[in-house]
Amino acid sequence: MSPDTRSTQRVSIALDSRSYDIHIGSGLFDDPASWQGLPESADALVVTNTTVAPLYGAALAQRLAQRHRRVLQVALPDGEVYKDWQHLNLIFDRLLESGCDRKTVLYALGGGVVGDMTGFAAASYMRGVPFVQVPTTLLAQVDSSVGGKTAINHPAGKNMIGAFYQPARVLCDLDVLDTLPDRELSAGLAEVIKYGPIADVAFLDWIEGHVDALRQRDRAALTHAVQRSCEIKAWVVGQDEREAGLRAILNFGHTFGHAIEAGLGYGQWLHGEAVGCGMVLATELSMRLGLVDAAFGARLTRLIERAGLPTQAPRMDIDRWLQLMRVDKKAEGGEIRFVVIDGPGRAAVRGASDALVADVIRAHTPPG
Ligand code: NAD
Ligand code: GLY
Repeated sequence: MSPDTRSTQRVSIALDSRSYDIHIGSGLFDDPASWQGLPESADALVVTNTTVAPLYGAALAQRLAQRHRRVLQVALPDGEVYKDWQHLNLIFDRLLESGCDRKTVLYALGGGVVGDMTGFAAASYMRGVPFVQVPTTLLAQVDSSVGGKTAINHPAGKNMIGAFYQPARVLCDLDVLDTLPDRELSAGLAEVIKYGPIADVAFLDWIEGHVDALRQRDRAALTHAVQRSCEIKAWVVGQDEREAGLRAILNFGHTFGHAIEAGLGYGQWLHGEAVGCGMVLATELSMRLGLVDAAFGARLTRLIERAGLPTQAPRMDIDRWLQLMRVDKKAEGGEIRFVVIDGPGRAAVRGASDALVADVIRAHTPPG
C-alpha cells in the first residue's frame, strides 16, 4: 500500500473544538499526512475483529509502532450479534489489564460494528480518551465512522445504548475495500444511495449512472461515492451534531430497517440490506402521504434493486413491526415517526398512523 498523496481527498467536519478531517485515498497507512497532528501517547489500542485483524492488523500496528511505545490489539468476535455490553467489556478488560492511562489512543480498525463499539469505549474509558476511525467497509467509510454516533445494541432495540463522541480523524483507505465481500459492498451502497433522495438529486442521478461501476469496485467511482457521501454527512452533522432536528434525515429507511434487524435477530439481514428495504418502505409511505409521486418511488426501488439489495420486506407479524418501531429513538409519546421524502432531494420527519404503516408494510411483503 504505497501512498498516493496526489489523489488523497479531504473532507472536514466543522464542530468547533471537536472538528476533524476525513482522509480518502490509497495507501493512507504509509502517508505521513494521515498521522500528522493526532494525539501523542505512550499507548495505542487497536480494536478490530477476528476477520479484519489478519488482513490489516499487522500493517496498522507496524505504522503505529512509529508513534506509540506500546501498540496493543483486541480482536472482537465478528458480527452484529456481538455488538453488546458483554463484548464491549472486552475492550475495557484489555485497557485496564494493560494499565492504559487516559491518554491512550484507540484505533477502530473494521466496519461499523467495530467503529461504533470502539467509539463508545473511547467515550467512556476514564471518561473519555481520543480515538481514530480506520473504517474498512464501504458502509463505515460513507457513514458510520463519520459524525460521532457510537452505540451498542440491546435485544429490545438497535443502537439503544451509546454516546455522541467524535473521533480525532477518519482514514478511509480505499485499498481495503478490495477484500470486502460483494454482499457487504452492496450493503454499503444502501447508505450511499440514502444521501441522494434526502439531500442531493444530482448525486442520485450520478449513482444511477455509476451503480454498476461501484459494484465492480471502479476506483474513481468509489472515490467519488465516499467523498460526496462524507461531504453531505459533514454538512448535516456540522449543523446538528446531536440530532436536535436536521440530523434525523440521515435515518431515512432506518426506522423500518432497525425493526427488521432486531426482529429477525441481529446479523440475519445486514444493516445495509435492512436500510435498503427500509428505504423502499419509507418511500412508499412518502407516496401515500402525497409527498412524492409513484415514478419517484419506482425509480428509487429500481436503484436499490440494482445495488443488489432486497426490496421486499421479510415476513413478520405487524404487531411485532409496530412494537419494534415504537422503541425507535425518533418515536414521541408512543407515535412512531419516520423520515419521509418530501420531494426529490428533500427529507422531513412525519408521524403516521399504525393502520397506514401496516398497509405500507403489507404492500411490500411477499404473499405467503
Ligand atoms: P460490520 O462492521 O459487521 O462489517 C461487515 C463485515 O465485513 C464483517 O464481517 C467484517 O468483519 C467484514 N469486513 C470489514 N472490513 C473488511 C474488509 N476490508 N475486508 C473483508 N471483510 C471485511 O458491518 P458494517 O456494514 O460495516 O456496519 C454496520 C454497523 O454500523 C451496524 O451496527 C450499524 O448500526 C452501524 N452504523 C452506525 C452508524 C453511525 O452513525 N454510527 C451509521 C450507520 C451504521
Ligand atoms: N447514520 C445516522 C447518523 O449518523 O446520524
